[in-house]
Amino acid sequence: MLPFRFVLLDLEVPVHSYDVFRHYERLHWNLSDLEFDTVDPDLVRPEYVTLAKSAAMGESNVIAAVHGFLEEFVDDYDFSTFAVVWGYQEVQHHYAFRSWLRAVGEDVQEQAVDAMREPYAPGTTPSATLATNIISELTVNHVYRAVSTWVQEPVLKSLLLNASRDEAGHAREFIHYATERLQRRPEELPSVLETLYVYSSEAKIKHPVSTFKSGIAEMGDHETIDTGFDLFLEQVAADGELEVLHDKVRRTFANMTGLNLSSNAKVRRALAEAIA
Ligand SMILES: [Fe+2]
Ligand SMILES: [Fe+2]
Repeated sequence: MLPFRFVLLDLEVPVHSYDVFRHYERLHWNLSDLEFDTVDPDLVRPEYVTLAKSAAMGESNVIAAVHGFLEEFVDDYDFSTFAVVWGYQEVQHHYAFRSWLRAVGEDVQEQAVDAMREPYAPGTTPSATLATNIISELTVNHVYRAVSTWVQEPVLKSLLLNASRDEAGHAREFIHYATERLQRRPEELPSVLETLYVYSSEAKIKHPVSTFKSGIAEMGDHETIDTGFDLFLEQVAADGELEVLHDKVRRTFANMTGLNLSSNAKVRRALAEAIA
């Protein structure tokens, strides 16, 4: 039997999702690697519980997101395959944060999680959807890593570090697919710059999904991912950390597009030129 890779090469089908699959297989960690029964309640501060609940809620968005990807990318088997592989890791993050919460006698409300199932409006273009996901992966990667150095409880610390590494990988793959898509569909560039401009204008960290999911009645006063971001900025972030994150995101988009996007004003200019 021919090796899988050889057959694919023979057909000249570029399957990036296969390489990602193999890469994730090598880096994969398990919930059972985290020793939830060793969590010392004396090391757990109330803020950790709030952060873990916010993270569990943010990660629960995965199902609506996969739903949206499969709808929006019906013409792209490779990206759709990646979306499913990605989804597995986000489900793992959701369960990991909930397992930690249960270990300290807490949990998120099932009703709040159920409310996250419903799909939300797609981006203005598929490239804009990819851009949104690049921003959220870079943000969550940054926040999880910073919070992991701040948290004193070892199990939550490892969980955050593991998840943060996964989010970096996710950002890299969304960047790959967005770069490739923009080469094929340069007419979608304005929608990407518009997404970046809206994000870059925010004076706080906001998960793009919150824009679509705010006002869900079932959520009530339950934690959302933004509760965690607010707490991060108030208690964990260093001075100017938001600007550091914004810079990182703009640099990523500059590399992707070859445009000068070093400030928000430059993003606006690039957007105006792309529309003209
Ligand atoms: Fe995640
Ligand atoms: Fe992710």
